This record gives sequence, structure tokens and C-alpha cells, in this order.
Amino acid sequence: MKFFIDTANLAQIKEAQELGILDGVTTNPSLMAKEGISGKEAILNRYKTICEIVDGDISAEVLSTSYDEMIKEGEELAAIHPNIVVKIPMIKDGIKALKYFSNKGIKTNCTLIFSAGQALLAAKAGANYVSPFLGRLDDISVDGMNLIEEIRIIFDNYMFDTEILAASIRSPMHIINCAKIGADVVTSPLPSILNLLNHPLTDKGLEQFVADAKKMG
Ligand code: G3P
Repeated sequence: MKFFIDTANLAQIKEAQELGILDGVTTNPSLMAKEGISGKEAILNRYKTICEIVDGDISAEVLSTSYDEMIKEGEELAAIHPNIVVKIPMIKDGIKALKYFSNKGIKTNCTLIFSAGQALLAAKAGANYVSPFLGRLDDISVDGMNLIEEIRIIFDNYMFDTEILAASIRSPMHIINCAKIGADVVTSPLPSILNLLNHPLTDKGLEQFVADAKKMG
């Protein structure tokens, strides 16, 4: 399973990269705004910097919602770096845009996936990734993990190359359950990745080992 980090924060991206387990980065307009990034030049520069830090797929989301504008924007984003993946929303014009980019050999990630039918359409249109939002489904009392399972079955039935990129991750349990189901990628905020490290018995055991090591001089 690939690990992506879901942020536009450079310090967090660097920290995950230094761990040696990072395969890519996802961003969205909300995450960019959270970093105080505004204006086209600043946005493009941030993507360029992220591509310099991480050698893996970097999702860059279009801001427009009409076909023509998404194509224009997506082509500009794709021109930044070969690792850029154009992130397109799950709407009718988005499906057309996915097909356009697929025909051109530009990688895409279809975002805001909340149903198996949406994932199927995006895969048919040639998306490289679909991003089902687990946490946001859990927020409305719908089992997000069930959606990952449904998409896994559908993609396996027809051997779609489209990868399931589980997004809106809120906890280490989301990551573990995604791994059990067979999501291809998990994109997570840094704290949920770091929380995978923690176990009180590890802390207790290490404390004992360190104490005993001192006794040996
Ligand atoms: O990248 C999109 C997704 O991960 C958003 O997560 O926490 O805003 O639902 P969240």
C-alpha cells in the first residue's frame, strides 16, 4: 500500500519524507488556503516546491468546474512537473475532463467520490486514481470503509487499472482498515501516520531495555 500525505504544509511533507515511507502528496483548495497560499503564481510555486521534495505522484486540484476551464487549468498544472497528477472533481464535466487527460497520457485523480457508482464512472473515464472520502462519510453516519470495499470488488471484477486512493483519513484505524481491505493508496494527515508508531508496550519495553543496557556499562 502506498502512503501519501494529505497536506500542502512543507514542514509536514518534509517530516514524512524524512521517515522514508512517503510515496506521494495530495492537496486540495482547502489545504492550500489553510497554508495562506493564494494567487495562481503562489499555487503553482507551491506545487513545484512539493515536487522538488517528494519523488512521487503529487495531486494538484483544478479550481474551476467547467470542462474548458478544467482542461486549461489541468494542462498548466501538468506542465509544472512530470509527477503532477491533475485532480478533477466528480461532476459531469469532470468525467469528460478525465477522458480528455487520459487520452493525452496526463495522470488524473478523481476527487469527492462518495459512492461506488461515481468510482465506476471515473474508472471508465480512465482516471488513474479515485479518491473516496472516508471521514466525511463517517461524519454523516455512513460507513466509509464499506465504500472502499465496494470499490475494491468492482475494480477487481473488471481488472481496472484505476487505483483506490483512500482520502479524508482521520485516524490510524482508517489506515489499518484500508490496508486490510486492499486500498492501493492511503492519503493521510501526518498525525494519523505518526500515530501508527505508538504502542505503550513498545515504550515500556524500550524503557526496560535502556535501563538494562546501562547496567551492562
Ligand atoms: O484530500 C481530500 C480529503 O482528504 C479531505 O479530507 O479531512 O477534509 O475530509 P477532510
